[in-house]
Order: sequence, then structure tokens, then C-alpha cells
Amino acid sequence: NKRIKIKSLLEGDFVGQELTLMGWVRTKRSNKNVSFVALNDGSSINNYQVVADPNIISEETLKRITTGACIKVKGEIVASQGAGQSSEISASSITILGDADPEKYPLQPKKHSLEFLREIAHLRMRTNTFGAVFRVRHALAYAVHKYFNDKGFFYIHTPIITASDAEGAGETFKVTTLDLKKPPLNEDGSINYKEDFFERETNLTVSGQLEGELAAMALSEIYTFGPTFRAENSNTTRHLAEFWMIEPEMAFYDAEDNQDLAEDFLQYVISYALENCKDDLTFLDKRASEEEQSKKADQRSEMGLLDRLKFVTENKFERITYTEAIDILRNSNPNKKKKFQYLIEEWGADLQSEHERFLVEKHFKKPVILTDYPKEIKAFYMRQNDDGKTVAAMDILFPGIGEIVGGSQREERMEKLTQRMDEMHIPHEEMWWYLDTRRFGATPHAGFGLGFERLVLFVTGMSNIRDVIAFPRTPGNAEF
Ligand code: 4AD
Ligand code: MG
Repeated sequence: NKRIKIKSLLEGDFVGQELTLMGWVRTKRSNKNVSFVALNDGSSINNYQVVADPNIISEETLKRITTGACIKVKGEIVASQGAGQSSEISASSITILGDADPEKYPLQPKKHSLEFLREIAHLRMRTNTFGAVFRVRHALAYAVHKYFNDKGFFYIHTPIITASDAEGAGETFKVTTLDLKKPPLNEDGSINYKEDFFERETNLTVSGQLEGELAAMALSEIYTFGPTFRAENSNTTRHLAEFWMIEPEMAFYDAEDNQDLAEDFLQYVISYALENCKDDLTFLDKRASEEEQSKKADQRSEMGLLDRLKFVTENKFERITYTEAIDILRNSNPNKKKKFQYLIEEWGADLQSEHERFLVEKHFKKPVILTDYPKEIKAFYMRQNDDGKTVAAMDILFPGIGEIVGGSQREERMEKLTQRMDEMHIPHEEMWWYLDTRRFGATPHAGFGLGFERLVLFVTGMSNIRDVIAFPRTPGNAEF
């Protein structure tokens, strides 16, 4: 008979039926008369109990049922005697599919530290915590596609290898087939990319936005959802060198439409996870609250994970301008107390994460949409406001996370755009294809980028971004 997944088994009534289960052994408890095996197949956070009678299952097989081993169980589903689960499987046969030598298998049925588990990222998905994180991550990815599909947005696949640096921060990973130790050189000593595969200098994309804008100028409303790469040397709990970004881009949207969409979208995907990942989120809620207990009282967050998620889906985000934020930050520290050492004195400075946390966690106590930043600290493509000083940018800040979304209305006016490019020393020739959209059928448009891992961090309540992507890429880390 066919294999049934544990999730389906737990959701239906199968008592009396002969079924087959396959999965990995979490624990085994034995006495003279019987062995109880907790089996997990990844379909659910819940294990399923296998009852093995030594008169039916050979001693040799029972010995090989160790933590981590993979087994196939056939038997009858029977009502469970013990507390907890309502049914269990009474094994008529057990086949060992793959042994796991208990002397060598690194995952034991005890609590391992997240740091230790990061070193065995190839096995950590077999733990409750990481199983839950990756099921929630999947549900969020699915919700992203569902949200945009239901709204008539089209999913565009933008290139991973590009010749542009959309954010202009110079943090790209170069792509080349040249021997960089001995590259062919031009007469002036520069690298001659003519002999490279693409016959030009290329890099991994930092954002699909520019190509997304081209698509929006044809299909009206599009989104991308793909890997992006940044060679920023920031060893923090919020940065990855390879992360996934969702970038919707909409023709005919202004800055306010863009904010409305971003807020609605975030609330939708978080609600989706709340409704569809109940068991996993209940487990992660408990895990997070245990972690909170180990913190100092004044650093604990006021709400548990589930309450925090519900709160965000039910309350409107605060919307303020950068200038208003600077005023709040100045006034919050009138005596210039030392402990608030990142005090902003000057209008025009970028906000540090301390400022963002203050606004979101202490002042407003809810997500904040910060708009209209000084143009000097934002990218060339953002639409210039009439004051001549600011641009129609928006960042969305989340409690415990900081910046989760960055976006803007785009500069659709050719003259303003090229003037800004000149100021920022961006050659027009390299962007001729981008400028064409301002030459032919230009229209107001806007978009934003959501860092997918930052969303997964928020929803799972994990505290390090390395723990919400299967194989994190960070400085010095690309083993698996
Ligand atoms: O603010 P960023 O740099 O904006 C852009 O790339 C725009 N082109 C987006 C757009 O308007 N279409 O990045 C967007 C988001 C950030 O808010 C953050 O959530 C995430 O991407 N992000 C990172 N996530 C993980 N690791 C990193 N190194 C990240 N850098 C940005
Ligand atoms: Mg940003």
C-alpha cells in the first residue's frame, strides 16, 4: 500500500486501516514488552507514534531503529491509549531504509544551540525548529505569489547576471571567465573584457528593479521574486550576501499608492501564515518566549510572537516623513544624554538602526512607513520632490527587524533623471535602455523591494537571518 504523510494521518480518521509510513526516527523508548518510536517525515511539526512489538519486529531491526535512521513502517492504525495523539500505528513490519550510527550522528534528542546547528546546516532541517522555519518560509513564498496573482500582477524573471548596479553602492560580486591573475590588458593597463564570455564587465544582480521597471512599462503591474547578491561586508544578524527579494513595480502608481500596496501586501502574507501555519507558529511562539526569558527584563519584547503578528495585521502602520522622524529623535533626547549616543543633530544624515528601533519599538510601537528622505542618501532613480531637497522614497520599519522594505516613486521625467545621474556620475551610455522608457511612453510609476528573509525572520521570531535561509551566504561562509 501507498505511503501516507503524517500530516494527512493526523488530520483524518484512519483507525482500522492498513497504512504505510516513512520517515526519520526522532526517539525510541523501549521496555521488555514494547518499543515506542516517534517518527517524523517533515510534513508536520508533530511526530507520529509507532508501536513495535518485539514478538513481531525482530530484535536486529529494533536495534537499528536509532535517532536519525530512516524507516518504513507498515501496520494498522489503532486508537491510542496514551495521552496526546488520538491514534498510532501498530507495526506489522518495519524496514530500515537508512541507518544512522548513534556514535556518529550529530543530532541527539536534546536541545542543541543555534550556533552549533549552523555548523551542520546540512542536517539542521531535521530539527523541530528548522522544520518549522522552512515550512513557514514556504507558506510565505506561496502567499507572495498568491497575493500578486490574485491582483493581476505578472511574475517577471529578471536576470541574475547583469552589467548594472541598480543601487549604485558598488557592492557587486563580479562575474568573469577571465583569469584575473593574468588578465588580457588594454594598452592603458585596464582589463580587456573583450575576451570575457560576455565581452564586457558583468556582476551578480543587486536588485531586479531596473529590469522590473522596463516590464511595468509594458505589462502595467509586475513583480519579481528572485535571488539578489550584495558584497557588503556587514557581519550582522540582518544581512546576507545572497538573499531573496520581492520587487513589485507598477505603472500609474504614485508614492501613496505604493505605500498602500506595501502595507496591504505585508498584512496579507502575515495573515496567510497565521492561518496556514498554526502548529508551526505555536511551536515557534513557545520557542521565542523561552528565548525571551533568558534576556534581561528591560530587553524583553512586550508581546509574544503570535500576538505581535496579529497586532501587525490588525493595525494601520504609522506614516511619517524623514523630517518628522528627525524632529521626534531630537526631541526625545533634549538633554543629549550620553546613552543615546547616536543622536541625530543634522538633517540629512542617514538613520542608524538605533534610531529606527527607537521610532518603531519605543515611540510608535508599531510598523512605521518613513517617507521623503534627503536625496543625497538615496538612489538616483527616486522621484525628486518639489522642495528640491527630498525624494519620494519610502522605507518600512518593523519591530525587532528595522528596515524590511525599501521603495519609491520613480523619476519618470527625463530631464530630472539625467540631471540626477550627472550629479551622481552615472554615465548615460550605460543606461540607454533604461532611459528609453523615459523617452518612449513615460508615465508615473512606483515600486518597492521586500527582503524575503527579513519577513521570514519577523514571522518566525528567529533572531538571526542565518537561521531562516537553508544555506546562508555571509562573509567567510559558503561551505554547503
Ligand atoms: O533598500 P534596498 O537596497 O532597495 C532596493 O534594492 C530597491 N531596488 C528595491 C525596489 O525599490 N525595488 O533593498 C530592499 C530590501 C531592504 O529593505 C531589506 O529588507 C532587504 O532588501 N535587504 C537585505 N536583506 C538581507 N541581506 C541584505 N544584505 C539586504 N540588503 C537589503
Ligand atoms: Mg534600503
